[in-house]
Amino acid sequence: AQNARESLYIVSQFAANFFEDHLWNNDEGRAIGLSYFKERGFREDIIKKFNLGYSPDVWDALTLDALKNKHTEEYLEKTGLAIRNDKGKLYDRFRGRVMFPIHNFTGRVIGFGGRTLKTDKNVPKYVNSPESDIYHKSNVLYGLFHAKKAIRDQDNCYLVEGYADVLSVHQANIENVVASSGTSLTIEQIRLIGRFTQNITILYDGDAAGIKASLRGLDMILEEGLNVKVVSFPDGDDPDSYMHKVGAGEFKAYVETKRQDFILYKANILLAEAGTDPIKRAGIIRDIVESIAKIPDNIKASVFVRECSGLLGIEERILLSELNTMRVAKL
Ligand code: UTP
Ligand code: MN
Ligand code: MN
Ligand code: MN
Ligand code: MN
Repeated sequence: AQNARESLYIVSQFAANFFEDHLWNNDEGRAIGLSYFKERGFREDIIKKFNLGYSPDVWDALTLDALKNKHTEEYLEKTGLAIRNDKGKLYDRFRGRVMFPIHNFTGRVIGFGGRTLKTDKNVPKYVNSPESDIYHKSNVLYGLFHAKKAIRDQDNCYLVEGYADVLSVHQANIENVVASSGTSLTIEQIRLIGRFTQNITILYDGDAAGIKASLRGLDMILEEGLNVKVVSFPDGDDPDSYMHKVGAGEFKAYVETKRQDFILYKANILLAEAGTDPIKRAGIIRDIVESIAKIPDNIKASVFVRECSGLLGIEERILLSELNTMRVAKL
């Protein structure tokens, strides 16, 4: 089984080299892929550092080259790099897309995300590798291999949604950044970050899905005993688009000054929704105390109770009794 896994790693690395080679050395790749990345504002050093690539727009370019180089159909299929059609013939999963290889935190290639260059709404924006013996989506954070040293040094990890967000933030010399690759953060991903720091700052997209995912993510992070802050972006922006809008300097200042602890973040969102309705406001208090109740450490929790009390003008002892009720209910 060890050899089988090794074979999956090897064919994945072959594919990464193939895509990267086509981005830089193939006419179609340069004209379409490389110019796409450059138009998005990614510098050559970042494109190289993350081993970005291009998959030619034909049915079986990678498959044929891999077979020619003595890789087997079995492992092309098991990594999902190739798919078998009705007639039993293999074809490439990734075609005509710019490629983001996904590394595990030791730096080995385990999968890919491929972005379409079309604006057609019927084409999925990203195609990703399927699960395999070396790629378990829920255990992976895009960018972690390139971020882990900075995460330790800064004692903080920025968490974004997408591949492009990682590249843009990293390119601005904020290297402690990883992506959950979508909005469904998992416990395994939080624990993986927990190996490097206890502090996570969520930088999700400024849309309804991003806000919803931030609220869900922060509760999960608290439950794992880690500290969490949130930065919100204007509606319609994500870290990548905002970076291009305001520039690296202003982006850094924004992230530094706009980061909110989870209570402030929740309170701001919920208070805006509730207006002056007293019943709704009471619901908010309960909602925030519910998040505090997830914190395993009592002393930490009591600090947040005090903050919540000050912010919402509720006596601490009332919040504490609410907190205790919830904790008992959880047992
Ligand atoms: P977004 O829809 O926010 O895309 O998805 P994006 O990263 O901002 O993409 P650009 O800037 O248009 O290139 C966030 C992340 O969710 C995953 C990808 O990891 C993406 O980066 N995703 C999104 C998919 O896996 N498939 C999709 O079809 C869309
Ligand atoms: Mn496994
Ligand atoms: Mn999004
Ligand atoms: Mn986005
Ligand atoms: Mn984006």
